[in-house]
Amino acid sequence: MPATKPQRKPLPTSKSTRTVAPTATPAQPTIPAWHAAPDTTKAWKRLMTLAKTQRSMDLRKAFAGDRGRAKALSADALGIHLDYSKNLIDRSTLDALLALAEECGVRKHTKAMFAGEAINLTENRAVLHIALRAPKGSSIKVDGANVVPGVHEVLTRMARFTDAVRSGAWRGHTGKRIKTIINIGIGGSDLGPVMAYEALKDFSERSIECRYVSNIDGEDFYEKTRDANPEETLFIVSSKTFTTMETMTNAQTARAWSLARLKDESAVAKHFVAVSTNATEVAKFGIDTANMFGFWDWVGGRYSMDSAIGLSTMLAIGSEGFAELLGGFHDMDEHFRTAPPRKNLPYLLALIGVWNRDFLGCETVAVLPYCQYLHRLSAYLQQLDMESNGKRVQLDGTPCRWQTSPVIWGEPGTNGQHAFYQMIHQGTSPVPCDFIAFAQPLHGVGSKSTGEHHDILIANMLAQGEALAFGKTAAEVRAEGTAAWLVPHRTFPGNRPTNTLLCEKLSPRMLGRIIALYEHKVFVQGSIWRVNSFDQWGVELGKVLAKRIIPELTGPRGKSAAKHDGSTESLIARYRGLRGR
Ligand code: F6P
Repeated sequence: MPATKPQRKPLPTSKSTRTVAPTATPAQPTIPAWHAAPDTTKAWKRLMTLAKTQRSMDLRKAFAGDRGRAKALSADALGIHLDYSKNLIDRSTLDALLALAEECGVRKHTKAMFAGEAINLTENRAVLHIALRAPKGSSIKVDGANVVPGVHEVLTRMARFTDAVRSGAWRGHTGKRIKTIINIGIGGSDLGPVMAYEALKDFSERSIECRYVSNIDGEDFYEKTRDANPEETLFIVSSKTFTTMETMTNAQTARAWSLARLKDESAVAKHFVAVSTNATEVAKFGIDTANMFGFWDWVGGRYSMDSAIGLSTMLAIGSEGFAELLGGFHDMDEHFRTAPPRKNLPYLLALIGVWNRDFLGCETVAVLPYCQYLHRLSAYLQQLDMESNGKRVQLDGTPCRWQTSPVIWGEPGTNGQHAFYQMIHQGTSPVPCDFIAFAQPLHGVGSKSTGEHHDILIANMLAQGEALAFGKTAAEVRAEGTAAWLVPHRTFPGNRPTNTLLCEKLSPRMLGRIIALYEHKVFVQGSIWRVNSFDQWGVELGKVLAKRIIPELTGPRGKSAAKHDGSTESLIARYRGLRGR
């Protein structure tokens, strides 16, 4: 792997992005002048003009009139082919979008991130998930200290622990081998690990099963433990803060569940490990900090699947597999950092997204992997995208005058085809789609009579892209002899935008590349939208209110001091009534 050489030059003007010791309330930052608001740029105005005509672009004509279109509007890197030619853009749109990224300072912002500047302005923190996959020997500094050796120290401890569990050297309290690993975590401490475990099942050690408990709903814990043997079960309590209500409640329940069988407090040391940035809380919970794997406040929860939060991933695919995964992330980091924007996959995916969202008014994006192993990918990307860029104010606190994160959703193909594709083809709202597939299957399922399943799968994906782009005209429907009154029902409008990511083969390395591609896509979009992609204040209010309501559901009748609106009061009363309280 090539060594990382992050840009070290400090930003020219900004006080705001300098790394300083964190304080409870950071001083109000000054936004660097290069971080322009998108709608003040020349490119934005040009794109507004282009959108007037291109929103009614006819993709049939566009392809017929430009034989080089598919080639011109596609890019290749690291075994990933991105075809974005079936979007309502032409080469001039692409030029204007690239100019927009430049005018919004994406390049400078990228340099600031790679240099460890505190670009998470509202929390005064560096944003350095790229350091989690930096090769040994490289240097990335936060507050003057190189963080890479610390990253590799944790990786080495994780690898030692992984080897011990997989080889059977690490045993449970009663001497039995660990067969079930249950990760307790939520949000970024769950979605990445679940997604990766499912995605990399074919590379995993099948004698150990990983399960994931996230929901505070006791159904989750109950179902994941009902057939597990406490003597053979290891819990990983994963929480960046180690204060998240769901995770701490589930962890306490897990402790009680284990000890009910093992009947000895000292068993906790053999059946519980923690992944966190908060050693004090880990110790308070009763987990020996020798069994804790740390990470750092410069890793956002939703950017943490390649930190120690990925311990269950490493246990599943082994330390070498995990190193491959990290290698894939790093490959994409280097591509993002060095490739010209016109050939840069994260830039291209981001710019198409900005075009669809801000200029064509698309409100959602469907991520549609034609790969069953990636069945949790869209759930993972939902947090990555929507928690990062679901913001309504700019870095300086003024309202965004443009749209930010779309709704991200999706399911694997071909299942989705038999559920919601109807709306994508013929509904009233256009839904841009990302199709993702691998040319090489990981299995040989199929027979002479059925044909290879994989070919049928890929044919379906290509057919969907074709149908969405080119549709079926009323004349074509009529020519099939369809009754006149049925023609509108059977007509497909076409001109529905899609990207196709055709990748070589799913592997830990390829998964790392794909995830880093989306991480950097989100970064580029957040830079253009001038929002802080790295905080999540929007999740706080609900957490506080829930804490207030809990005693009102459980405490003595009429003792509640809290006042709510009429609706909430009456729902609380109804719930209490139904529970006989
Ligand atoms: O509530 C949102 C959030 O803070 C996410 O950003 C985070 O991934 C999740 O909760 C879990 O947080 P933690 O890892 O600290 O338990």
